Amino acid sequence: MPAITSSAPGKIILFGEHAVVYGQPAIAAPVMEVRARAIVTPLIGQPSNSIQIQDPAFDLENSIKDLPLEHAISRSIELTLKELGVTSHPAFKLQLSSTIPLAAGMGSGAAISAAIIRAVSTFLGASLEDEIVNQITYEIEKIHHGTPSGIDNTVITYQLPIFYIKGQTIEMIELQHSYDFVLADTGLKSSTAITVGDVRKAWEENPDKYNALFEACGDIALEARLTLNTADRQKLGRLMNENQKLLQEMDVSSPELDLLCEAALDAGAFGAKLSGGGRGGIMIALVTKENSQEVSDALMAAGAVNTITTCLGAQNE
Ligand code: PMV
Repeated sequence: MPAITSSAPGKIILFGEHAVVYGQPAIAAPVMEVRARAIVTPLIGQPSNSIQIQDPAFDLENSIKDLPLEHAISRSIELTLKELGVTSHPAFKLQLSSTIPLAAGMGSGAAISAAIIRAVSTFLGASLEDEIVNQITYEIEKIHHGTPSGIDNTVITYQLPIFYIKGQTIEMIELQHSYDFVLADTGLKSSTAITVGDVRKAWEENPDKYNALFEACGDIALEARLTLNTADRQKLGRLMNENQKLLQEMDVSSPELDLLCEAALDAGAFGAKLSGGGRGGIMIALVTKENSQEVSDALMAAGAVNTITTCLGAQNE
């Protein structure tokens, strides 16, 4: 049995985070420059069903038996085995690594799950279809997030930009134009479970205000979906800025994120907003190829700990 390697990308949410949890449309895209990786290697001479896990990012070097049942890694493996109907399998080692910043709104948890599910199923001789990988990754997202909308697992599984409404057919966006983004990490870890929980509490206390905010985010996502077909980057940038204002009103931005958004705009970005759960993690800025370095430098000068430049739809223009 040869070793099997699988990987999955990070992601950004271009429009509609948080509102997507309440049924509004959102747009997300994969970030291919950062990836989570899973390598499965046979453990020759070990008793069947034994599984060793190595994840240096979490100082993890354990037998699966030592992990709590609800651990995302053991659940990913368990649900994969269940889906395949496998009750007995050769011993294997699962090595995990990732270049996706952790707890930064880039979907690192979903990417690790998708990589594990693909590597383990392929190792056992039955690669699972994207639809099933997506379903299992969604189950694991519930451990990370509580009430995930499903957008992270979907964009990461299919590795394509998506227009997403919870519970509806997924629309893959075929970009006819290219869009350059600079992503900047505040370096502040933020738990999506906490921000999603806080938004829920605020919505329960003030449903009229929050329903209006969610609807306004949904309207922006709808307009952005049409604008992506036109290459009108000025307008797309304006829509990002409007979305950021709504996220501030939802109380999921932070002084650090606001500062980075302002720095990007001052350096010539078309638009800027936080991406993901907020209160830390990353922000994104829509730029041109020509000014991406300048915007990146401005973001680092304003306190970002790291920037990533990515281009969506590059192959089509
Ligand atoms: O995992 P994050 O931080 O990228 O957040 C996902 C986006 C949210 O809308 C905040 C939550 C969700 O489940 O859609």
